[in-house]
Amino acid sequence: MTGRNHRPVYYSRILQSANERRAETHPLTWRLNDDGSLVGLQDYLAKEGYRAVKTVLNEWSGQDVIAAMKEANVGGRGGAGFSAGLKWSLTLQGGDMPRGYLVCNADEMEPGTFKDRLLMEQQPHLLIEGMILAAYANNSKFGYIFLRGEYVESARVLDQALRQAREAGWLGDNIAGSGFDFDMVVHTGAGRYICGEETALINSLEGKRANPRAKPPFPGQSGAWGKPTVVNNVETLCNTPAILLYGSDWYQQLSGDRTDDGGSKLYGASGLVNRPGLWELPMGTTGEEILELAGGIRNNRTLKAWLPGGASTGFLLPQHLTIPLDFKNPGSEGSRLGTGLLTVVTEDQSMVSLMRNLEQFFARESCGWCTPCRDGLPWTVKLLQAIENGEGEEGDIEMLEKLAADCGPSLTFCAHAPGAAMPLETALRHFRAEFEQGISRPRGVAHADPIPVGSV
Ligand SMILES: Cc1cc2nc3c(=O)[nH]c(=O)nc-3n(C[C@H](O)[C@H](O)[C@H](O)COP(=O)(O)O)c2cc1C
Ligand code: SF4
Repeated sequence: MTGRNHRPVYYSRILQSANERRAETHPLTWRLNDDGSLVGLQDYLAKEGYRAVKTVLNEWSGQDVIAAMKEANVGGRGGAGFSAGLKWSLTLQGGDMPRGYLVCNADEMEPGTFKDRLLMEQQPHLLIEGMILAAYANNSKFGYIFLRGEYVESARVLDQALRQAREAGWLGDNIAGSGFDFDMVVHTGAGRYICGEETALINSLEGKRANPRAKPPFPGQSGAWGKPTVVNNVETLCNTPAILLYGSDWYQQLSGDRTDDGGSKLYGASGLVNRPGLWELPMGTTGEEILELAGGIRNNRTLKAWLPGGASTGFLLPQHLTIPLDFKNPGSEGSRLGTGLLTVVTEDQSMVSLMRNLEQFFARESCGWCTPCRDGLPWTVKLLQAIENGEGEEGDIEMLEKLAADCGPSLTFCAHAPGAAMPLETALRHFRAEFEQGISRPRGVAHADPIPVGSV
């Protein structure tokens, strides 16, 4: 099968069997079926589904929910790791805030990432339940699932689940007899990576061009249509029901003594591994453990480098496989957890070609607002193309380093540019010799076959 709806069967699949996944240790995936089929409303209800909504909406205040989420210290699973509870507490500022919006970020366009898709396609009611609880905490009047446009199957499954939830009284007026009203819809994006940035997403939702907004004001204070708006990742929201049922201490101990960050995490691996897929594991699991679950590197190749969580994270080396993959530790090696889905690079793969490919993606997806991102990223592509063709000029590597530094944290309006810079900076640092091999000319000598301006 080809076309937009095509998906390789082995992606978006949890590769642990049902007897390895238990409610106490695998809050995100214990209900999933081994054959990857949908967990429908009846199956979900039979396995504690909507119990948290029933209890919390009738017995807790919104502030209680926020306090519990703060205590659990759930780091956002969209990549930045910001505390969900802290974010939610922003909607309380000023006391009498108007009812606003809850947005689930399901844009999932990070290269190498396919975790949210699993949750949406196989267990949509967990996301819906998590969103009802988040909406209750933040007094949101309406919710949107901002979904990557190519996720046609996710849209179909979510639409059906929303209809069922509405008919069963879990959405709409007076949910579970609590007096709380809330409903939501799926909103499909038109296929831009920048729409995943939370303020660009809000602009896109409003029908505007998807440029990030200046912060402050933060969306929690003034977001969609000027109302308090909470944006959270799919996986973050899916953690909520179990935290409210079992408590923050239970959530914290899920990661044991691996890390200070609590909870479990959907980790995964793709690229040249024997079993690409996903596993729900304790937060702080190492790359080594994940690669073992992925059956090791394919065809007896040798690992050269790996990205821990998507294209916008920094390259790590084989010696970093023992680092706990949490919100802190990869940072000490110039990388970050990102989405937690590993991409492996083997010895026979060219770092120069790989970087040219990645920077082409980042250059194309820039919204064009800030100079280092709009003009700097296409420049990196031109330099990388020249080096890849063996026609690099002396000084090109230093220029690449400068262009990456110009895109560093806080130098641009949003985190797209730092995300593009991190793999480039780490690739140059760890694999400089590969880039040097493509330098063949002294500075100022013209290319034999100049690369046309605007060719990227
Ligand atoms: C260029 C760019 C793309 C992003 N794409 C996504 C995405 O697809 N999904 C996502 O959840 N977060 C994405 N983010 C992060 C969001 O801006 C935001 O931090 C996140 O949705 C907040 O949710 P969380 O706190 O639950 O992680 C992206 C950020 C940037 C800069
Ligand atoms: S960093 Fe790039 S994507 Fe982000 S606002 Fe600036 S130009 Fe746009």
